[in-house]
Amino acid sequence: MKDVYILSIESSCDETSMAIVKNGTDIVAFTVLTQMDTHANFGGVVPEIASRMHTENITMVLEETLKKSSIKIEEVDAIAVTYAPGLLGSLLVGVEFAKTLALVYKKPLIAVNHTIGHIYANAIENTLEFPLLALVVSGGHTDLILMKKDYDFEILGSTLDDAVGECYDKVARVLGLKYPGGPNVDKLALEGNDTYNLPKPVKDTTYNFSFSGLKSHIINLVHNETQRGNEIRKSDLAKSFQITVVDELTRKVELALQNNNVKELIIAGGVSANRYLREEIKKVAEKYHVHLSIPKMEYCTDNAAMIGAAAYPLYKQKKFADFDLNPKSQATIVDQ
Ligand code: KG4
Ligand code: ZN
Repeated sequence: MKDVYILSIESSCDETSMAIVKNGTDIVAFTVLTQMDTHANFGGVVPEIASRMHTENITMVLEETLKKSSIKIEEVDAIAVTYAPGLLGSLLVGVEFAKTLALVYKKPLIAVNHTIGHIYANAIENTLEFPLLALVVSGGHTDLILMKKDYDFEILGSTLDDAVGECYDKVARVLGLKYPGGPNVDKLALEGNDTYNLPKPVKDTTYNFSFSGLKSHIINLVHNETQRGNEIRKSDLAKSFQITVVDELTRKVELALQNNNVKELIIAGGVSANRYLREEIKKVAEKYHVHLSIPKMEYCTDNAAMIGAAAYPLYKQKKFADFDLNPKSQATIVDQ
């Protein structure tokens, strides 16, 4: 079969990224331009600034990506773009850019759901083995998903309140760490000891998650101790928080593995970059004798390579988008 090259675009939050992906798995060229330093000055992503920066940078990111590639834009087979979920103004920049390229170069357009993109980050330099269990942990998601084939998503459980990444970011803020919080909590926890006795989530037998109680406990604890003039052992608190969260994530993964016969376990989303989660999930995979796939660090956080990987099954099924494609700030993976 002829090789398929997809030019993919991601601009759902604060990264402008493009990639050329061969057959959904080989990364031919890849560029990520992050706006992180700009948004760090404000303690979080400012949507208006994000979309303006995407507009300023997107052409440069295309030029850079094409420069790294032996493939010319005329030779690609399709243009793929993240259309949902994310910041509307940011998504709009990528979607309009993709439509323009598809129209000018007469290429089919493929609309990709960002969360599905995170899952397919595991298809990069890897063949997914079905049925598989996916733990999706990002700024907006905490989901356990069963996949029996490509684009077949059965959501076993989700967060009932805050996403795990959101919790990391809030805890980081109360500890006075800079945006983005998750990686900084992860780093700080390395220096700490698990000395805080934090409330453990209720040991229920559903596949759902709830971390808002833990988050509120930490916020209250920091405020109360500060008001009393007591010192917070930040690295210890980061460590205790990280252990509590990861223990709960791995407990639910174990439960799902006990009840479902899967060949592969994958983790996806920004929080899959977390060192402690990566270590602990390895132990779970070994215990249950399932193949484990964890994306390389650069494919854990937002990037276009994963969008190209997720677009490939849609290309094979000829599921192309119309030119009236509009971005959506919210979409579940079963809407695709
Ligand atoms: O997947 P992602 O880039 O964006 C969404 O699609 O939501 O995830 C971003 C989230 C942020 O909450 C960030 O703090 C968290 O992933 N994150 C981490 C780590 N790296 C990123 N959380 C914990 N440990 C990390 N190393
Ligand atoms: Zn993401």
